[in-house]
Amino acid sequence: MDQFDVVIIGAGAAGLMCALTAGARGRRVLLLEHAAQAGAKILISGGGRCNFTNRDTAPDRFFSGNPHFCKSALKRYTQHDFIALVQRHGIAYHEKTLGQLFCDGSARAIVAMLLAECAAAGVDLRVGHRVIDITKADRFRVETDHGDFAAGAVVLATGGLSIPKMGATGFAHDMAARFGLKLTETRPALVPLTFTGEDLAVMQPLSGVAVDVQARCDRRAFRESMLFTHRGLSGPAVLQISSCWHEGKSITLDMTPGSDAAAFLLERKRTRPNAELKTILGEILPQRLAQKLVETRFVNRPINAMRDKELAAIAGFLKAWQVVPSGTEGYAKAEVTLGGVDTAGLSSRTMQAGDVPGLYVIGEAVDVTGWLGGYNFQWAWSSGWSAGQAV
Ligand code: FDA
Repeated sequence: MDQFDVVIIGAGAAGLMCALTAGARGRRVLLLEHAAQAGAKILISGGGRCNFTNRDTAPDRFFSGNPHFCKSALKRYTQHDFIALVQRHGIAYHEKTLGQLFCDGSARAIVAMLLAECAAAGVDLRVGHRVIDITKADRFRVETDHGDFAAGAVVLATGGLSIPKMGATGFAHDMAARFGLKLTETRPALVPLTFTGEDLAVMQPLSGVAVDVQARCDRRAFRESMLFTHRGLSGPAVLQISSCWHEGKSITLDMTPGSDAAAFLLERKRTRPNAELKTILGEILPQRLAQKLVETRFVNRPINAMRDKELAAIAGFLKAWQVVPSGTEGYAKAEVTLGGVDTAGLSSRTMQAGDVPGLYVIGEAVDVTGWLGGYNFQWAWSSGWSAGQAV
């Protein structure tokens, strides 16, 4: 049986970073991946340009049962460390919005960079290797469909449950549970929301229309773009708020964020008295949305025929449209999995399981989930690096 210092299972963002870090320390590293290639999610991320980190990464941009857990790793390997690595490899990048850094070219450059670093560090990467089981006596024994391997340390880096058709499995969760680690409840997150009934009747015909909103749920608010879809709502603001939403809860949408809709309507009543409501709303909303609202929610009349109280009610609706999603589009469309291996059983400095010396869990498999915008990759880099320093 081949012997290694460490076997890392899953060659995604976290596993690759852990492998190159441990390899650079002189550890004998085996990196096992069941798919035909490493870093598949990196390749499709950020619309093919990989939003590889966020300049504004900070612990308050992450959801976790323990909001303090992510602090140590994020501080030890920061967004600036990853940016420096990207710069050393001559990869051109730009800030798109809100601190989000994307490759100018293809996400392939990020995978190539990580693979080059792994090769330089002597990492033994084997793709097309399915891990069947892990047992522990003196050392760990990792059973695969290509034979068994022994190691003093095993790192679970197989990610979360999102996009099963790309090879996502519950492997890390199942293995962690087998070794006695607790799991927190898992849910699809950064996911489009679905609707039924009257709400869907308004949303469906608007499929493809985008509008700037502030979406609120559970005392959290995100101001970004929202997209109507044929099943409900998507776009960055909705993906963000989906991470805070639970079945039965409502979401409040401000469709004129940063502006006083009531004052605007009263001002237009004075300055454009003969204009129809649809036309006036079309000044602050996309035309198709304005049209749909006057068809379904309001009556389209000249604005001077409307009492101030009616205008106040319309403004109230624009500032706080309350909708109750019927569900989400599930793991098939979710960018990430909320929840996972309970951080209570892991060291925040090394990601090692407190009760199972030599077992580590990193990346999305852990109950640490970032906002949309490069935060989830930064968690993968930071937690992968921290474990890579310790294995
Ligand atoms: P990841 O899922 O990357 O890797 C796990 C690896 O383990 C996979 O290669 C998988 O095949 C392998 N594996 C699973 N089970 C196995 C088994 N039993 N044996 C062997 N191997 C196994 N984030 C961000 O910050 N910026 C972005 O732009 C995007 N964009 C984006 C787009 C889309 C469409 C999705 C679905 C997700 C994103 N994300 C993102 C989220 C980001 O991709 C995600 O958080 C990280 O990839 C998580 O990294 P991990 O290494 O933990 O898991």
